[in-house]
Amino acid sequence: MVGFALEAFSAFLLSLAVVASPVQVERRAEAVPSFHVVPEVNFTSVAPSVTLQNISSLGSNVFLTSKDDVTDQPDWLTSVVGKPDANGLSSAPVTIVLVNKPNGILDAFFFYFYSYDHGGKVLGIEFGDHVGDWEHTMIRFTNGAPTAFYLSAHSGGSAYTFDASEKTNGRPTSYIGVGTHANYATSGQHCHDLPGDLLCDQTDAGPIWDPVLNYRAFWFDSSTNTFTIAGGAGVGADEIDSEGASWLSFQGMWGDEQYDFLEHGQYCLELGSLEECRFSSGPTGPIAKNLGRTAVCQTESGCTVATSL
Ligand SMILES: *[C@@H]1O[C@H](CO)[C@@H](O)[C@H](O)[C@H]1NC(C)=O
Ligand SMILES: *[C@@H]1O[C@H](CO)[C@@H](O)[C@H](O)[C@H]1NC(C)=O
Repeated sequence: MVGFALEAFSAFLLSLAVVASPVQVERRAEAVPSFHVVPEVNFTSVAPSVTLQNISSLGSNVFLTSKDDVTDQPDWLTSVVGKPDANGLSSAPVTIVLVNKPNGILDAFFFYFYSYDHGGKVLGIEFGDHVGDWEHTMIRFTNGAPTAFYLSAHSGGSAYTFDASEKTNGRPTSYIGVGTHANYATSGQHCHDLPGDLLCDQTDAGPIWDPVLNYRAFWFDSSTNTFTIAGGAGVGADEIDSEGASWLSFQGMWGDEQYDFLEHGQYCLELGSLEECRFSSGPTGPIAKNLGRTAVCQTESGCTVATSL
């Protein structure tokens, strides 16, 4: 579950045909990193530790809180563990979730976990950092053919017809923002959330991350809210059976709770109608990302599927 921070790269997303017959790749023997977190509720520990096998026993109010003070610059904050090599192989498996739906629809979600979100600067002041970051892209298949592409970004995201998306080897391309890991269909600067281009993500065609080389894949049944193992490639294949699928049912937060004023150097400012803080809370996991959605977008109301980039 290690991600890497502060790098811009494009992730080339696999088609279902590739999921069904994963290519043979060199397997790196790499142990599952232990969780350097303590489960906490309201900044108070509720268990000494967690494992992937027992994390789902914890409630939705639990924050998986870093044992390290992030303002002390722990090594993992700037680590390049997980940065893809020249072949696009990352040592961090992508988590794929496949969901069958009515009308011949299959949604293939690609979840990317990063250990830290570096929010960005507004007028030179840092805002919106948090421990833990889950982002996703989704390819919708209709009667076996890819028809739409969704990219998560901050509280929203964007959707395109499959035909409109930029392809690399026939697969849609996502450009991932430096620090925030927001996904975009085009490279360059993308401003969000604040007027006047005050807060912007930067993307470019950096190192390629090819999920087909290393992933764990699961089926999700939205009528019973359960995950089952589908299979994997690379490290993801080696580890998926011992990890199981129950960890995906954890409803809590994959990072620290928003620090109180002055704790860990916390500050907050009113920006227009918004209150923005240096540190916000860690994110919920894949189960909270509307896997059973009917529309292509995570937020279904007003979802527009663009027909051009
Ligand atoms: C959280 O802990 C603080 C300090 O112990 C306490 O004052 C507060 O009521 C708690 N909040 C909740 C929601 O339990
Ligand atoms: C999970 O298992 C570990 C190892 O057996 C144990 O130390 C820990 O307390 C357990 N955590 C929970 C939340 O059950």
